[in-house]
Amino acid sequence: MKVAVTGSTGLIGTALAASLRADGHQVVRLVRRPPRGSDEVRWDPRAADAGDPALDGIDACVHLAGVPVGGHRWTRRYKTEIRASRVLATRALATALAAAQPLPKVLVAASAIGWYGDTGGQEVTEDAPAGKGFLSRVVHDWEAAAEPARQAGIRVAHARSGLVLGTDGGVLARLAGPARFGLLPRFGGGHQVMSWISLTDEIRAIRFLLDPDATDRSGPYNLTAPNPVTDAELTAALHAALKRPDFRWLRVPESALRLGLGEMSSELLNNARVLPRRLLAAGFQFEYPTIAAALAAELGSGQPLVRATDRGLPAA
Ligand SMILES: NC(=O)c1ccc[n+]([C@@H]2O[C@H](COP(=O)([O-])OP(=O)(O)OC[C@H]3O[C@@H](n4cnc5c(N)ncnc54)[C@H](OP(=O)(O)O)[C@@H]3O)[C@@H](O)[C@H]2O)c1
Repeated sequence: MKVAVTGSTGLIGTALAASLRADGHQVVRLVRRPPRGSDEVRWDPRAADAGDPALDGIDACVHLAGVPVGGHRWTRRYKTEIRASRVLATRALATALAAAQPLPKVLVAASAIGWYGDTGGQEVTEDAPAGKGFLSRVVHDWEAAAEPARQAGIRVAHARSGLVLGTDGGVLARLAGPARFGLLPRFGGGHQVMSWISLTDEIRAIRFLLDPDATDRSGPYNLTAPNPVTDAELTAALHAALKRPDFRWLRVPESALRLGLGEMSSELLNNARVLPRRLLAAGFQFEYPTIAAALAAELGSGQPLVRATDRGLPAA
């Protein structure tokens, strides 16, 4: 398969491109800077052209681009960027894909469990409505922006990812720093449920959704492990994986987080038990269904866990 990937230099994109290539698929990286190799094509996320020749002949597209949501205070300007880099870019890309010749078969578009917002720890699956906060509205509009591709007859799957645990970036890279000294605190009460997925299973699930024969895999899919954990359990598991003591009394109060991080603190305080109902119903099997196994594997190897033997997409 020839697969176009946006955001291919990020945590998920780097691992996905490596996994696809390892199985003999051709990856076309859509990059915002000048191309550095024959596999790269420049694109402007705000104005992807309908009729862009770079998209002709591709079988599938995985759209991961977007300015990082965590690790940066949500100023008014940054919120505009979070939204625009997702909603405008997705609409432009979906419009360009709809004009590609021949029509690509599938678009797997990144989305997020931010769709659900804070559910007070209640279990939610894909049929739950969008929440009401800033991120929920962004995710809602982000998914809706793929409409031109859907209208053109391209199968569109939305990967509503939880916290993706990989050592090369994202939340695990941020938490592992203090955890290596046994100093990762509980955030707030520590009871909030974190819905997570190992980077390995994230890549396997994206490839599962890409499978050209799985014509019924469209719409939203929660990419979360079947066993979410509380913040306190995640901290304890991380300290255990790193063989560090776990000081349960070490806490950052909710008020301090809200003061220090502003609205972005919702990333650490949101409480939602998001279950992967549709992936499991479709027969997807998690390689790392529990947090202990996922952390041991990820932190043990020091390498992103992407294997060429991943199933879900036939070798080229
Ligand atoms: N990691 C997670 O825990 C997680 C959870 C839920 C959802 N997601 C979503 O999944 C997608 C990929 O996640 P990731 O962790 O791999 O992200 P990442 O490491 O932050 O990478 C995202 C990529 O997007 C591109 N990008 C950065 N700023 C951009 C901008 N202003 N406009 C357009 N593109 C921009 C960059 O690629 P180029 O420089 O190559 O263009 C960057 O490498 C994101 O949309 C993210 O919101 C991630």
